[in-house]
Amino acid sequence: MVRIKSLILAALSYFSSALSLPGDTSGDLNVSKKRYDSPSIDERAQVVVDAFRMSWEGYYKYAFPHDELRPITNTARDSRNGWGASAVDALSTALVMGQKDIVNQILDHIPNIDYTTTSTDVSLFETTIRYLGGMISGYDFLTGPLDDLADKVRLAPLDCSRNPEKSLTLHTQKENVDALLAQSKNLANALSYGFETPSGIPYNLLNFANRSYIDEPNGLATVGTLILEWKRLADLSGNQTYASIVEKAESYLLRPMPASSEPWPGLLGFRINVTNGEFLDARGGWGGGTDSFYEYLIKMFVYDPEHYSEYRDRWILAADSSIAHLASHPEPRPDITFLASYDGQNIIQSSSHLACFDGGNFILGGLVLKNQTYINFGLELVNGCHETYTATATQIGPEAFRWDPSRVPPEQVEFFQKNGFYISASDYILRPETIESYYYAYRATSDPKYQDWAWDAFVAITSTTKIGSAYCGIGNVNTPDGGGFYDYMESFWFAEVLKYSYLIFAEENDWQVAKDGVNKWVFNTEAHPFKVAGS
Ligand SMILES: *[C@@H]1O[C@H](CO)[C@@H](O)[C@H](O)[C@H]1NC(C)=O
Ligand SMILES: *[C@@H]1O[C@H](CO)[C@@H](O)[C@H](O)[C@H]1NC(C)=O
Ligand SMILES: *[C@@H]1O[C@H](CO)[C@@H](O)[C@H](O)[C@H]1NC(C)=O
Ligand SMILES: *[C@@H]1O[C@H](CO)[C@@H](O)[C@H](O)[C@H]1NC(C)=O
Ligand SMILES: *[C@@H]1O[C@H](CO)[C@@H](O)[C@H](O)[C@H]1NC(C)=O
Repeated sequence: MVRIKSLILAALSYFSSALSLPGDTSGDLNVSKKRYDSPSIDERAQVVVDAFRMSWEGYYKYAFPHDELRPITNTARDSRNGWGASAVDALSTALVMGQKDIVNQILDHIPNIDYTTTSTDVSLFETTIRYLGGMISGYDFLTGPLDDLADKVRLAPLDCSRNPEKSLTLHTQKENVDALLAQSKNLANALSYGFETPSGIPYNLLNFANRSYIDEPNGLATVGTLILEWKRLADLSGNQTYASIVEKAESYLLRPMPASSEPWPGLLGFRINVTNGEFLDARGGWGGGTDSFYEYLIKMFVYDPEHYSEYRDRWILAADSSIAHLASHPEPRPDITFLASYDGQNIIQSSSHLACFDGGNFILGGLVLKNQTYINFGLELVNGCHETYTATATQIGPEAFRWDPSRVPPEQVEFFQKNGFYISASDYILRPETIESYYYAYRATSDPKYQDWAWDAFVAITSTTKIGSAYCGIGNVNTPDGGGFYDYMESFWFAEVLKYSYLIFAEENDWQVAKDGVNKWVFNTEAHPFKVAGS
């Protein structure tokens, strides 16, 4: 923490000397290329912290303890069951940034959440990666290397006599930290009936009010992106039931049926019958709906290599099949590599911002397996996603893109010839995956080029999406002004974009991804770092 404190002082003097902001905008930094021509690495880290603080202050003032801020109208939205998704998702970012005041605002909230009650359907997947992930990560940090960031004693506010009920909700540090684990168990216990199906594959959408579920097939990512959170909870709590119910569900993904749902070794279909555990199709790839199943195969090996070697073997199959069958070079730009999607063995020249985590995941796999082939391929994919950023008017990559030369929309022919892809969904909703992959690329190579790419992306995103009290999604990355705002700030802005943008400029620490492949921490798909087993 010593460095963070001195960095703040250094950065404050940087701001006051270099920026001379007008007084009334000092809380509202306009992060534009012009102002931050070539700031040092420490200065960049501080600018990211400032963006985090501004986002948090907008959320805390206008939306807390609701799920998300609408920064234009300064109102709130509850898209994640109203338990304070942005607060829980922001915790591990506030921790790694050393923002003690924000850490304790969040710690005061978490014991008061009633995870058994909500009026809207609960997504097992989203709840696991955001709420469980956020609390478990907070617990790992606050019972470990960042335990000094929880206040020793929370004092009642001065006006507590006028508001005795509020003062009752304040807890001491130990109680607030213990509550992270207790509330994780409460939440997992509330969710666990979803696994009570004939196959053991859970339903994804649950109705807590009458313990029912939406009876529809589950998906590869929504089943295959639970194991890291539930296994960590099992290990922290000593209740291995949390792991065994998820391992049972995952067993159908490791040995998929029918055989036709695995068009190439390790690459699977999408929808899964919850009654018998069989796949219903053979379409997929590394994009939304299937993506983080592959991500977690190698991350489980990072988490506990002895227990999860089968997961590693399945990742290797998927990675090798992807290199052999999905690697795709656009006709007008053979220098670029994207990963295609598929339906059976038919290749679909289509990808997405969500899929841009793939480069980082290949790099992580290459580091931990000590195999340069995967690292090099991952760096090619990182380069491809970088091209989707540098091609647009805002310098931000689109939500979805394609490179099928026979289907280029007439108005994008020139764009396609120049850039090697055309835009099939033009919005940007504060997604992290490209910066996430820059982070892995930088950790693996130490090449400052990736820090520059992350900085350019961060500057483009913050200067285009800033409006009202914070940042929000935009409608068109390929018009200079971003084509309109969505008035909605996703909680993963706090958890992921700001964390990876910060960590790529931050000092060495145990929780940073390790260049030698020996990691003490592993990040869940929402960028919440967990201690690995036995560390
Ligand atoms: C940020 O600053 C730039 C350059 O001074 C200016 O063109 C732009 O309008 C500003 N944006 C906002 C949101 O204030
Ligand atoms: C362990 O977790 C399971 C799954 O949520 C729960 O049903 C069970 O009550 C827990 N056991 C204990 C001893 O807490
Ligand atoms: C549970 O409640 C939802 C809506 O509140 C309703 O649509 C559904 O039919 C109920 N399910 C059962 C099994 O009662
Ligand atoms: C799922 O499997 C069950 C049992 O084999 C079957 O009755 C049901 O029709 C299947 N559902 C779908 C959507 O195929
Ligand atoms: C790395 O992975 C590639 C692709 O699976 C394989 O051909 C190669 O033998 C591996 N290299 C090492 C050193 O394990």
